[in-house]
Amino acid sequence: MRRDRVNGYGFWAIGLHWLIAVLILGLVGLGFVMRRTAVDPALQFSLYQWHKSVGFVVLGLAVLRGLIWLVGRHPEAVASLGPVERRAALSTHLTLALLCLVVPLAGWAVASTTPLNIPTFFFDLVVIPPLPLGRSEAGEGFWSLVHAGAAYLLLALAALHAAAALYHHFVRRDEVLSRMLGRPGPHGPHAAPASPAPNPLQREGSKQ
Ligand code: HEM
Ligand code: HEM
Repeated sequence: MRRDRVNGYGFWAIGLHWLIAVLILGLVGLGFVMRRTAVDPALQFSLYQWHKSVGFVVLGLAVLRGLIWLVGRHPEAVASLGPVERRAALSTHLTLALLCLVVPLAGWAVASTTPLNIPTFFFDLVVIPPLPLGRSEAGEGFWSLVHAGAAYLLLALAALHAAAALYHHFVRRDEVLSRMLGRPGPHGPHAAPASPAPNPLQREGSKQ
């Protein structure tokens, strides 16, 4: 497994980051639709099963990312960032990574505590056992609140985080976003080319 580079993210970190991000945004949308809109009950049942299955995929990927953080080398912050920005970025990343674990675990707790006792299938392949929490309406209500609250908090924080990344790219014009896209240059994405292109006017002038 390739480790993270000192001044950039490695293949696995980049792949996991974007895969988890896309799945989470999809799951928030799916969760909202299945829970808060009037859909046909049969379709709603399938949406719940898809939501739970993909949610378990995110849980697995988020655990994998945590393990990669533990064994791999995390890239240093981009040099132009001040100490306050570095601390803000680190705490945002840690909170996002933690929420990527808390949200699916709380979802699993909802499925484990609901008195409806509906089995949780993982893509129609295996039944995932419930967490040992005991079934009750109060338990289901509590975990639903935690799951929904944490999911919408994750969405809000991800939106702020994405806005910060775009600000760095288009206003500060530094490497923050480019290196998460896997194309960091030695002097940033907008650096001038090492040797200037020849000036065609000068060449024409020399012929006369
Ligand atoms: C990162 C992964 C996940 C995200 C972002 C997510 C997001 C959401 C959202 C936004 C809702 C709607 C909340 C509302 O408006 O009340 C929801 C509902 C729900 N989710 Fe997830 N979810 C994830 C993973 C899971 C997992 C792994 C499970 C179960 C194994 C799960 C089970 C449920 C259930 C049962 C509901 C309905 C809760 C209720 O009836 O109040 N979710 N989810
Ligand atoms: C639910 C969505 C998202 C989550 C949970 C998330 C989470 C994270 C986490 C945990 C990190 C730390 C590095 C790592 O992955 O190991 C990170 C870094 C980063 N993310 Fe996201 N992210 C999300 C969406 C986005 C979006 C939409 C963008 C861009 C528009 C973005 C841009 C970046 C950039 C540029 C970095 C590197 C920052 C640096 O090196 O200082 N992320 N993200």
